[in-house]
Amino acid sequence: MKTPPSDPPMFHYNDLAIELHPEVYDPAEDSFLLLENITFDSKDSILDLGTGCGLLALACAYQGAQVVCTDINPFAVQLTRHNIERNRHLLKGHIEIRQGNLFSVLKNNERFTVILFNPPYLPTKKIEKIGGWFDIATEGGPTGLKLAKRFLQGLHKHLQPKGCAYFIFSSLSNRSTLEHYLKNERLSAEIIASHRYDGENLDVYRVTPTG
Ligand SMILES: C[S@@+](CC[C@H](N)C(=O)[O-])C[C@H]1O[C@@H](n2cnc3c(N)ncnc32)[C@H](O)[C@@H]1O
Repeated sequence: MKTPPSDPPMFHYNDLAIELHPEVYDPAEDSFLLLENITFDSKDSILDLGTGCGLLALACAYQGAQVVCTDINPFAVQLTRHNIERNRHLLKGHIEIRQGNLFSVLKNNERFTVILFNPPYLPTKKIEKIGGWFDIATEGGPTGLKLAKRFLQGLHKHLQPKGCAYFIFSSLSNRSTLEHYLKNERLSAEIIASHRYDGENLDVYRVTPTG
């Protein structure tokens, strides 16, 4: 017998119950690849940029970390706020959601031990635009690296000196352009996980400031 679709759509990740919304990116291979390869503990302060439905942020707060998460999409912010309330009793760490453009929602002196970003990374030519928030969640400009570049540029200001950042890179964008950005920002980088998916290779990069 077929299970009727849940209303509203939702899924479980460990004990967490996460609702979805048609205007918000549904967690996919990239989200889970990032989530399952980050290292943190309850002493960490974590910034999750472009949080979508809030999955990564909630999973970090579930383990006891202090989390700030952000998104430019007001539907994502509303949905994450709802998912925080729904799972509040399970969260050991404090979690806060803010709406805005990347690091602009932070105070000048706000720094984190871990920063996460699963950016919009598809080069404009490789996607069929459908308009609205879906394009904003997936399109990374002509090179696919428009948002990743701004993310890397903000790390020195908002990462603790001994902190680290994790992000997703897709083989559909240009690796030598990424390497150029990393060098410009004096960041040392390693690929800690990869996944071949539908003709595309996804990598998780871990980056740390070099000075
Ligand atoms: C690929 S989705 C990832 C969502 C979620 N983190 C996950 O892994 O499932 C990218 C997210 O970044 C958000 N976003 C795009 N541009 C942004 C910006 N300039 N500032 C903040 N968030 C942004 C989108 O709204 C979307 O939620």
